[in-house]
Amino acid sequence: MKPPAPLSPPHRVLMGPGPSDVDPRVLAALAQPTIGHLDPAFIVVMEQVRSMLQAVFGTANQLTIPMSGTGSAGMEAAMVNLVEPGDRVLVGVNGVFGGRLCAVAERAGGEVVQVQADWGRALDPDAFRVAAAGRAVKVVALVHAETSTGVLQDLRGFREVADDVGALLLVDAVTSLGGCAVDLDAHGVDAAYSGTQKCLSCPPGLAPLSVSARAVQALSTRRRPAVSWYLDLALIARYWLGTEESGGTARAYHHTAPINMIYGLHEALRLVLEEGLEARFARHRRISSAFAAGLQAMDLVLPVPAAERLPQLTLVAVPQGIDEARVRADLLAEHSLEIGGGLGAFAGRAWRIGLMGAGCTEGNARLCLSALRGAHARQGLALPDPLPAFVAALGG
Ligand SMILES: Cc1ncc(COP(=O)(O)O)c(C=O)c1O
Repeated sequence: MKPPAPLSPPHRVLMGPGPSDVDPRVLAALAQPTIGHLDPAFIVVMEQVRSMLQAVFGTANQLTIPMSGTGSAGMEAAMVNLVEPGDRVLVGVNGVFGGRLCAVAERAGGEVVQVQADWGRALDPDAFRVAAAGRAVKVVALVHAETSTGVLQDLRGFREVADDVGALLLVDAVTSLGGCAVDLDAHGVDAAYSGTQKCLSCPPGLAPLSVSARAVQALSTRRRPAVSWYLDLALIARYWLGTEESGGTARAYHHTAPINMIYGLHEALRLVLEEGLEARFARHRRISSAFAAGLQAMDLVLPVPAAERLPQLTLVAVPQGIDEARVRADLLAEHSLEIGGGLGAFAGRAWRIGLMGAGCTEGNARLCLSALRGAHARQGLALPDPLPAFVAALGG
């Protein structure tokens, strides 16, 4: 076969639900020379990634590592390691990813009890107590930042719920990590996972994961090994933390670590810490609330109440008579700008617009507001100018 022409992907502005724009420094890190996964120089990189992940997750958990695979690998790793066949698992469901947590828990053999809230609204901790109905529960699981609806879940109160029902607390932080405070230790979270392609602004391919000492203890008393060999944390810890028999000094091969992806994550985490966590979270809040002001000034409706809105992802209802997919195609063709369509209950009825990590800039927000107005005008709907409200909300 004659090989095709070399790759030449278009330059896009990525304002969908992820992947988000990648900083050029991260792309440069990916291109550094590949070395062996047991090379002493690589062990130094691993240790630095671990401590930077601890800082961003807000935890002292030793087992804080990037799993090989996308966010779903983190979800699956958390479930298959914590859940054994017959264990009861309470899962909060107010969007697509809560539903996916249920599917993964069921495949791990868990007896899933769903705790529902309306799509576009947050979960109520008390509903988990009611759902437990006095029976033993192994895991309470919920999504911190529901990417399908743009809801930020307040984690306060869930440790108490988990304690009341005797459970471990598992949190999906795929879209929250690096965009808003996750603070695992302050919230008493036992296991959390994320993805690299959202607010860490790295390409997709790794799932940062953190597991508390209490959950590690639970792993050590499992009746049988996790059903997945590839995602078995007991085995993977022997590579990332070193083997117990060597006192942590020798690393055991499990699978070949994706070396260059870990370089990319290393640089992405350096960027997060250089900016500072508080400054980064404040940037996401400031730009996204100005963006929301601009959308509302155009008379567009944001279905999620302001107090539950996720800064890094905004759900926007499609006005009556507007072709949702045509607007997205228009933005891509006219501005090389990607936004997301609705998922599940919001499919065809809403857009999901991301302001994540390196992509959360005044320039991107302004571009998207103007581009949306133009795309509506091309479908015959004249919307008011969003920019005065946007600029005013930015503070001048
Ligand atoms: C909240 C949430 N959980 C899990 C996932 C799955 O992650 P991935 O697509 O990286 O496997 C996503 C992806 O968008 C997500 O937004």
